[in-house]
Amino acid sequence: MRLRNVKGATNIIEQSNYVIKDYREYKGKYKTIFNNNNPIHIEIGMGKGNFIIGMAKMYPDINFIGIEKYDSVMVRAIEKLDVDIPNLKLIRMDAQEIEEVFFKEIDTIYLNFSDPWPKNRHEHRRLTSEAFLKRYDNVFKNTKHIIMKTDNRKLFEFSIISLTNYGYQIKEISLDMYNDDIKNNVQTEYEKKFHDKGMPIYKIEVFK
Ligand SMILES: C[S@@+](CC[C@H](N)C(=O)[O-])C[C@H]1O[C@@H](n2cnc3c(N)ncnc32)[C@H](O)[C@@H]1O
Repeated sequence: MRLRNVKGATNIIEQSNYVIKDYREYKGKYKTIFNNNNPIHIEIGMGKGNFIIGMAKMYPDINFIGIEKYDSVMVRAIEKLDVDIPNLKLIRMDAQEIEEVFFKEIDTIYLNFSDPWPKNRHEHRRLTSEAFLKRYDNVFKNTKHIIMKTDNRKLFEFSIISLTNYGYQIKEISLDMYNDDIKNNVQTEYEKKFHDKGMPIYKIEVFK
């Protein structure tokens, strides 16, 4: 994602009620933030937030947390939040520290159009690398459940191998999502861009 320094981004994030600032303090207690026992789904690398905001509006009985590494990107999501969405929160953090943040409380992880990190020496930075799958282990409550969408064929192939080698089973897979059933699909910003260009969108849903 192209990063521009957005003026005042840090301030906007500080002041937003959607953003959990002391996020490490809620480890194992995230349900207290939402004040209910509903499932919690997270999106890692939510970018400008279209997906997580759309999902929270579509599924009011699921709690959603969007995670993003950069202030300048997260602020674009905050700007979209015009109505009150009680089942949505955001965290500005690097997912590398995810084990310090959640403990046995997440039901689903969404990985949408994650950075592909094409160089072999950067494999460990891919969000479906073994390094990250290990970090997710103790984050999940019971069944581990990951849903991924991407335009990047190489990242998709890598992810299928990485996930299945790690013991995940494939529930659904599509090599061209828009030619399959896309009922209730919420588009991400990147998805819209690539789909509008006529590129196939790959999707995989796995569990363990
Ligand atoms: C290519 S963009 C996709 C954004 C959005 N999911 C979409 O589909 O439009 C990837 C996003 O993931 C974020 N990201 C990458 N690695 C991350 C990490 N380790 N932790 C949190 N966010 C990360 C980037 O800052 C960027 O906003």
